[in-house]
Amino acid sequence: MIPETPLVPSAAQRVAIPRRYLMCPPDHFAVTYSINPWMDPEEPVDASLAARQWEALRDAYLDLGHQVDSIKPIEGLPDMVFAANGATVVGGKVLGAAFRNDERKAEGPAYMEWFRKNGFPQIHDPQFINEGEGDFLYAGDWILAGHGFRSDPNAHLEAQEFFGMPVIGLRLVDPRYYHLDTALAVLDKDTVAYFPEAFSPGSQAVLRTLYPDAVIATAEDAAAFGLNAVSDGLHVLLPQAATGLAAQLAERGYEPIGMDLSELLKAGGSVKCCTLELRG
Ligand code: ARG
Repeated sequence: MIPETPLVPSAAQRVAIPRRYLMCPPDHFAVTYSINPWMDPEEPVDASLAARQWEALRDAYLDLGHQVDSIKPIEGLPDMVFAANGATVVGGKVLGAAFRNDERKAEGPAYMEWFRKNGFPQIHDPQFINEGEGDFLYAGDWILAGHGFRSDPNAHLEAQEFFGMPVIGLRLVDPRYYHLDTALAVLDKDTVAYFPEAFSPGSQAVLRTLYPDAVIATAEDAAAFGLNAVSDGLHVLLPQAATGLAAQLAERGYEPIGMDLSELLKAGGSVKCCTLELRG
């Protein structure tokens, strides 16, 4: 008798694909304003702990064999550490970011400047507000795109034309999950993990259609920012407090790696927010 193929791949069948990431050291990181419900300027941030936590994330990528480039942080731009928001890069093409909040607007040109100087000739200056990979998540055959709090849905059409890829708009409805990458993580080209309640009923239906076998996160794991994760196809780096999600990922044959980014979380960011993937 031929043994049945297991439906869930084991770790042995999942493959890590080497990645190239861009990160911004948290030299000027602080919480001096509040543009999302996680940010409380009254609550102290331990800057040296933030630096150690960020370095541990960078080192984890390097240990896994990934390449990490870095952009020089600019004084007065405390959220610049959240490199994911700096652009969206697919097939070497760079869609620049244009931020919703005045406090972050200067980050857009700063990131575009890095791309100009680092060998990315195809850079598109954005016409509509989009906060980079905060709201655009490349998912293999299409790009998932969030709107509702930050990115303008017109930016979805702009991205679709620029990249020549289908862009699927998803409406975010919970202010705690103001960017798509706080409510959904792309694990590989076939699978995502997400927290359904962060999305409008119509967008939940879209996600069920596209991903009938998705990993569904609990409210607790979502609140621990567990979905702000980075996957290389095998290893999934995620906030260590999201233990339930880590267990679900392990059951599916991924290797979860818990990271402590408590200080960055005070600004409403974690693993994914600190990481911009540079797709060649
Ligand atoms: N304080 C930043 C903001 O509210 C956090 C950005 C987090 N980045 C992300 N990719 N979700 O804009």
